[in-house]
Amino acid sequence: MRFSKNIASLVPSATLAISARAKQMKAAGESVIDLSAGEPSFPTPQVGIRAGSDFVGSGKSGYPPTPGIPDLRAAVAEYVNQSTSLGSAAPPNVLISAGVKQALFNATYCLFQPGDEVLVPAPYWPTYLAVLKLAGASPVVIPTSWETGFQLDVTDLDRLATPATRGLFLNSPGNPNGETYSRELMAEILTWAGERDLWVVSDEIYRRLYYGGDSATSAFDVPHEASRVLHLDGISKAFSMPGWRIGYAVGPEAVIGKMSALQSQTTSGAAAPSQHAALGVIAAEERDQIVGEFREVLRRRRDLAVESLTGVPGIECRTPSGAIYLFVRLTGTTDSMTVAEQLLVKGGVASVPGEPFGTPGFLRLNYAVSDEELEEGLARIRTFFS
Ligand SMILES: Cc1ncc(COP(=O)(O)O)c(C=O)c1O
Repeated sequence: MRFSKNIASLVPSATLAISARAKQMKAAGESVIDLSAGEPSFPTPQVGIRAGSDFVGSGKSGYPPTPGIPDLRAAVAEYVNQSTSLGSAAPPNVLISAGVKQALFNATYCLFQPGDEVLVPAPYWPTYLAVLKLAGASPVVIPTSWETGFQLDVTDLDRLATPATRGLFLNSPGNPNGETYSRELMAEILTWAGERDLWVVSDEIYRRLYYGGDSATSAFDVPHEASRVLHLDGISKAFSMPGWRIGYAVGPEAVIGKMSALQSQTTSGAAAPSQHAALGVIAAEERDQIVGEFREVLRRRRDLAVESLTGVPGIECRTPSGAIYLFVRLTGTTDSMTVAEQLLVKGGVASVPGEPFGTPGFLRLNYAVSDEELEEGLARIRTFFS
């Protein structure tokens, strides 16, 4: 069958594929603990359930405005102003999308084109490479290392930037490594990018799932060339609502307008009930309390996972400062594809190998599952490696 050139190099999401396989195995009666999915296990917060079901109960069925319902755009602007140092976000700076994934696609498609190079630090969330290729742009991977805690080194950016470089993707705290950039590093990176007039697309979906305080440093927390920074966030992780599919972009009005135009020709925007559920949590008085409670449970699970896997032969792990993953280093091999396959088939645990993140030799384990699943999964991993 002939497909268009547009999708010649498109591969399905590796993390979603592994998680789908684990679900199939479970459905077939096999005992599998799924630590592969990138989602927290908490139920939707009550304020979100109420707001979503009130809207459904109202019987309203019209299209919502393409860039998002006005109250949600306003609530997101206020949330970003309160929780970062930006202070100047207003509704026209906000686009509501069907998850950060759609916001990221819109941003990439609007900002980059064939011939453009965009810097992407590794390990990276695989979707960054996929969307850049869909836009015809060229991702340029910036290696980072386990030894330095996967911190970005500005001298590497300098080394790999060319006259064709147009942008830089950031993801702190990061998926899959859970590492966070300090305020100093974030400032250094944004100064570097600002001097070169680059777009910085800062995916901050794990910003509130940071164990060193209430929130990790945002690109909006450091002095920056405001006309060139796009902040992406949503409700999938901090509010444990991935299935509601709501994310947002905050940035210059002109870019948000173009992203909205693209959205008007693709999806017409995010589903109205989901937008109302998102408004319920983002505008809630108890918003920060909800995130804080999730964070404390996740901190306990993270510590349990690190303690349980420390000293296990064949793997090394460190305590990540954010997100919901342990990124475990294999000490005897770099072929993490094979190890993940064996861990699934022989050990009964689904994990994600390092290869799709651009760093072979690692396994990503999601510790945001129930306590019972986590304990059983960790016990199986210990047995498998021992
Ligand atoms: C770094 C990162 N960005 C974005 C997303 C997707 O977010 P959403 O569910 O809002 O599309 C994920 C999900 O795993 C992620 O890890």
